[in-house]
Amino acid sequence: LRHLLGIEGMDAQEIVALLDRAESYVAVNQAANKTSDLLAGRTVINLFFETSTRTRTSFELAGKRLGADVINMEVAWSSIKKGETLIDTAMTLNAMHPDALIVRAPDSGAVQLLSEKVNCAVINAGDGSHEHPTQALLDALTIRRRRGEIAGLKVAISGDVAHSRVARSNIHLLTTLGAEVRVIAPPTLLPSGIETLGVTAFTDMRAGLADCDVVMMLRLQTERMQGSYVPSIREYFRFYGLDYDKLAHAKADALIMHPGPMNRGVEIDSVVADDIDRSAIREQVEMGVAVRMGVLDALTRQAPTRATTGDVDGS
Ligand code: CP
Repeated sequence: LRHLLGIEGMDAQEIVALLDRAESYVAVNQAANKTSDLLAGRTVINLFFETSTRTRTSFELAGKRLGADVINMEVAWSSIKKGETLIDTAMTLNAMHPDALIVRAPDSGAVQLLSEKVNCAVINAGDGSHEHPTQALLDALTIRRRRGEIAGLKVAISGDVAHSRVARSNIHLLTTLGAEVRVIAPPTLLPSGIETLGVTAFTDMRAGLADCDVVMMLRLQTERMQGSYVPSIREYFRFYGLDYDKLAHAKADALIMHPGPMNRGVEIDSVVADDIDRSAIREQVEMGVAVRMGVLDALTRQAPTRATTGDVDGS
């Protein structure tokens, strides 16, 4: 694996290998001494053009716990503000010989494009509404730890599917590992042709949740809805907010998940989000660090050091 740009195109063996590697870091993160020198001498740069709490912090922690030097580019204080492009910024950073660039970008496909211009590993930390591969991996690790196996599970992904990179990465991952995936959304937030990804689409939340093992909620991405219809919060919660009444249609022990950030009272009722037995939302955050340690390990530890790599075309 040279880059991690998306889950689409990965086979089950590659996904399971990353999950197994991440699993080996779960105990490390729970130990008193969490640091090692596995990536000593390696440099990782976080380059986030959109806001983030979980992904950026967990990549930083993951790199530091593995002994890498981690730089957080402050985009607000960078030369982007003087008109430098995302690609020129990445190529500038590449010239400083990092081993990995972790990139979040507002445009779908931007991280792939950038990966073609640099000769270090590139990890997609979310590009527009395209993919968020490490989120899908941490979701899968959480499910696997709670349920043992992903194959055969019925998973409902509910909310603003149209704008969700989390939904797309999870659809690719969960269908590849043999889960039955349903998507639930209002007609305006359900992309046409989504069934071609191997999922069943529902606009009635109760019907979509029927007999599900896992319920994954998504927030309304109003920042990506300029000029289009934005539902009223009260109306949205009534039909698509996860409360105990709607959850009763899923299996009695259905796992409640949310990638965050959550908007309580919009797509999920606060008491459901905080359900001690069934909500795995905090565990998802915990698995995020282990997954990002596994991914950094897989992409940079065995890679040749930058001193021995050639130019972009030749590497
Ligand atoms: N789930 C997720 O990507 O969260 P952040 O935007 O806080 O990184």
